[in-house]
Amino acid sequence: MKHVTWAILFLTPVAIALQGSGGGAKDGQQVFRLNGGDVSYVVGINDKGQLQTVYWGKRLPDSQEFQAPKQGREVASFDMSLNTTPQEFAGWGGGLYVEPDLKITFPDGNRDLVLKYVSHTATADELDVVMKDISREVYVKVQYHMDSSTGVVRRSAEISNRTGAPLTIEQVASGTYNLPRGTDYQLHYVTGRWAAEWNLQQQPIHGGKTVLESRRGTTGAQNNPWVMIDRTGDHDQDHGDVWFAALGWSGSWQIAVEQDPAKETRVTGGPNAFDSSYYLKNGETFQTPYFYGGFSSNGTGGASRLLHRFEVDSLLPHAPHPKLRPVLYNSWEATTFNVDEAGQMALAEKAAGIGIERFVMDDGWFGERVNDHAGLGDWYVNSKKFPHGLKPLIDKVHSLKMDFGLWVEPEMVNPDSDLYRKHPDWVLNFTNRPRTEGRNQLVLNLARPDVHDYVLGFLDKLLNENDIAFLKWDYNRNWSEPGWPAVPVEQQKNVYVDFIRNYYDILQKLRQKHPGVEIESCSGGGGRVDLGVMHLTDEVWTSDNTDAYDRLFLQEGFSYAYTPAVMMAWVTDSPTWVNQRSLSLEYRFLSSMQGSLGIGANLNKWTPEDFTTAQKMVAAYKTVRQTVQQGDLYRLMSPREGEQTVTESVSRDGKQAAVFAFLHSSTQMYPFPRLYLRGLDENAMYELHSVAGKVNEDTPVKATGAYWMHHGVDLALRGDFQGAMFTLERQ
Ligand code: DGJ
Repeated sequence: MKHVTWAILFLTPVAIALQGSGGGAKDGQQVFRLNGGDVSYVVGINDKGQLQTVYWGKRLPDSQEFQAPKQGREVASFDMSLNTTPQEFAGWGGGLYVEPDLKITFPDGNRDLVLKYVSHTATADELDVVMKDISREVYVKVQYHMDSSTGVVRRSAEISNRTGAPLTIEQVASGTYNLPRGTDYQLHYVTGRWAAEWNLQQQPIHGGKTVLESRRGTTGAQNNPWVMIDRTGDHDQDHGDVWFAALGWSGSWQIAVEQDPAKETRVTGGPNAFDSSYYLKNGETFQTPYFYGGFSSNGTGGASRLLHRFEVDSLLPHAPHPKLRPVLYNSWEATTFNVDEAGQMALAEKAAGIGIERFVMDDGWFGERVNDHAGLGDWYVNSKKFPHGLKPLIDKVHSLKMDFGLWVEPEMVNPDSDLYRKHPDWVLNFTNRPRTEGRNQLVLNLARPDVHDYVLGFLDKLLNENDIAFLKWDYNRNWSEPGWPAVPVEQQKNVYVDFIRNYYDILQKLRQKHPGVEIESCSGGGGRVDLGVMHLTDEVWTSDNTDAYDRLFLQEGFSYAYTPAVMMAWVTDSPTWVNQRSLSLEYRFLSSMQGSLGIGANLNKWTPEDFTTAQKMVAAYKTVRQTVQQGDLYRLMSPREGEQTVTESVSRDGKQAAVFAFLHSSTQMYPFPRLYLRGLDENAMYELHSVAGKVNEDTPVKATGAYWMHHGVDLALRGDFQGAMFTLERQ
């Protein structure tokens, strides 16, 4: 593996004394170093046998040696050294008050857990450190994997119960990332709700703890399991040290960012402990989700470019060569539940005429689904709407040279459905308590083996019987009454974990059985987007908010954590249902073309001019699709900072840059500020091609990368909600 070296430095004589049942490294202190990309991640065993962070930041020369770590100093009798030692994985016990990585209750009532080093194994890009409780046969394998090109570290932990009795995991994290001591950090994260996801927030990290979380059973839109931390006043889009962490877990989750009594910052991430626990029988192991961490010295822009690269090259299902997203049409905003054979065929014909590559029929095609009150759970084709099944529509779509996609919402059931009438016990519920509905639906308990088999079975059958290339997998509410009465009481809270494990298992099995099928993760918009689901799905639905101006904000927030390669963005009707805002079709296209383009408008209402505009924009998109989806994204102007938004994507091979510019509103005759491009080769010549809007008349057609970056480009944009796009092609 290129750029990966593990140097295991034994700084004091190796004397890993395994002491009877206690275990631990008494005198032997070790340092393990992991290098990848431009990052070094160094951990060590301290003088107490604890696993401790030594260094995480810009890659240091291989010749650089590190001292073995020493436990932190006791601040006072109130804060024993455990609370000032930057442990990588801390058990709750021995007086730990900061966020633990593992908290256990044993059947005898003991709840003390103190983990010490036992052994380790290291390969070229992996390190496993085995820790054990000082008296009980509880083992934790703390696992690291370093991505060789980006330096993104993947953390996880495997907890083994060999105590001879069951135990209850009350809280578990995948691990803790510790930042270098300092008090000038700033935390970035996103907040949101339905139709308003991806709002960027930032705040200084002070003493105390900020907890980002979902208690909803799934990822949620209110927070997203991603954080970025920079040094206040010392960063911008391209400069400064930035750390980031993101959790690969689609269930209830928590990331705690905490400044400890020694003013050290800890970032602990894993499944949320709220209302959850895991009953682990003797002999069983519990594998945590992955918690990824990265570092860039190139500012917040550099950090997100690194994360995008990691996602495209190492995480997506077909990484390192994920397929480009086809331009799709989706029926939802055009026809809502009123889908039928003739109507969808008519839309398909129109879509094909503008260069659409995938036709997706959304909600409404199954069961007795005429609105959101009925049908979920009954996954047979509605014979009134499709008297001959789906085949005629699918054949029609194929004859128009598009592939066919279908909407499903597998984990949900309407009480008004055959499935619920037959299996009322299949939903999450507490016995003899109300079952709270959201959008007239209940959540199937996917943790149940029979529900798992039912969902996998109907999806497999659907894909076997129909030539379907794409599933839009939706999920339109969060949990309530999360009971699982069918299992013994002590196992009922396993539901938070077992549900998600089964969800992943179904995705995995479907992918194995139908390797050609692509899947979108949707949860009423961007409510289930995280690095866990991204590993098993090909794209995500960013938001139900398709207002092209609102999208500039949403898409910017999204892009801090996730790559445009998966960011679906539809062009819909104007005025939008969201804000009643009217925007030109060209503007709406330009907004969506910054991600993975789709069209969700009612084509039956389009004028011939609209079709001409759409044909032109779809064709233009196809020429920059690779650059936009998989290139390097630079944010030249943020919608949060003024009247303009500008993004630039540069292809990996450096041959093309695509620039999208938006003017929200002209005021007082001020011209559009000059754009200074980034990421070009200073000495190469680039030719400018205008796709939409205008550059100033004095702009040269050809100039060096240095000219475009240092002299810059002036745009001739005036008015409200104006947009422009141009490309630079290297000569
Ligand atoms: C919510 C999704 O986000 C929409 O795009 C659409 O698929 C509806 N569900 C259908 O019910």
